[in-house]
Amino acid sequence: MSLLPSRGARRGPIICFIGLVFIVALYELGIICNPKKDQLTPIMVTKEKYVIGENDRQTYPYDRSMPLIFIGGVPRSGTTLMRAMLDAHPEVRCGQETRIIPRILQMRMHWVKSKRESVRLVEAGISKEVMDGAIAAFCLEVIARHGEPAPRLCNKDPLILNMGSYMLELFPNAKFLFMVRDGRATVHSIISRKVTITGFDLSSYRQCLTKWNHAISLMHEQCKDVGVGRCLMVPYEQLVLHPRDWMKKILHFLDVPWNESVLHHEEFINKPGGVPLSKVERSSDQVIKPVNLEALTKWVGKIPEDVVKDMADIAPMLSTLGYDPYASSPNYGEPDNVVSDNTVRVRADNEMWIAKARQLALQESVPVVAATNDDSSNTITA
Ligand SMILES: *[C@@H]1O[C@H](CO)[C@@H](O)[C@H](O)[C@H]1NC(C)=O
Repeated sequence: MSLLPSRGARRGPIICFIGLVFIVALYELGIICNPKKDQLTPIMVTKEKYVIGENDRQTYPYDRSMPLIFIGGVPRSGTTLMRAMLDAHPEVRCGQETRIIPRILQMRMHWVKSKRESVRLVEAGISKEVMDGAIAAFCLEVIARHGEPAPRLCNKDPLILNMGSYMLELFPNAKFLFMVRDGRATVHSIISRKVTITGFDLSSYRQCLTKWNHAISLMHEQCKDVGVGRCLMVPYEQLVLHPRDWMKKILHFLDVPWNESVLHHEEFINKPGGVPLSKVERSSDQVIKPVNLEALTKWVGKIPEDVVKDMADIAPMLSTLGYDPYASSPNYGEPDNVVSDNTVRVRADNEMWIAKARQLALQESVPVVAATNDDSSNTITA
């Protein structure tokens, strides 16, 4: 065979060319699809996403406009109880702390705070819009898929309330529950349970109370910034003393219909559609119990005298939030009957609760080993 094209093969390109001219003509005349008629620049679009139910095959779409629920506060302020009570609701799923959401938010903060890096990012085409879209997608994917499907999704990584207004930029229909607790109780719990938080020196009540004051005043500002329609302050003590009234108020704020199950979260531990617990989160062994008064006044008598004396100066947020800084044994109020009954039950059967925690393989409440850097459960500097 000759390497030169035959007569027939040479005719091929000519036919192609004529065909092409014909098509272009049709196109120009608008007989076949002509984008000039509505000249839009192309954009990238995401596929629609769904959380898929397993048994009923019910699908729940998730996107940035959904009404996500964020539970925030200084760690050890009742955020786990709050999320457990919501998890008990058939329509809500919060789940365990994700840990990586606060981290990605903190990384972003470092990127945008650095002037040099900001210039590099803009030069690379990473506009605010691109960055926000990517961060939102990351957070949403984690929130939607780290637990069971549910019509209302919720997240509890306590310190992300520090970035409440940014989260609201990402998720414009989100709402926040801001857990507030007597700082003396929070700090006693952080120290006695050895909860490592960046910036908190677990050997000093004075330093921890100072940090608590700083952290909670930032969150208080954020909560005020996003507004009363978007952020509800929930005093832990009042939630514990009057769970029915407060859960009514909270569900109403979230536009979630009332369901009695939120008052019996302990019956739904690790059940399908219930309250999934992490074996290694510090509060897991406490939320297996019904709402009770045990944690309210454990701190009384545990804080060094010199710190107690300076309390109003060390932690002025106590007064701001309505706690008496000089009360040696504060009176948070009279509990509902059901809570007093729960407390009697919980105290009467301590062994049973220890056994139950063991049966669920939950980590001991106070680890013997000192916390290492690696153990740092919360990376946002308060
Ligand atoms: C509460 O939730 C349960 C399912 O957990 C459901 O059977 C019941 O009807 C709900 N009650 C109300 C008042 O919606």
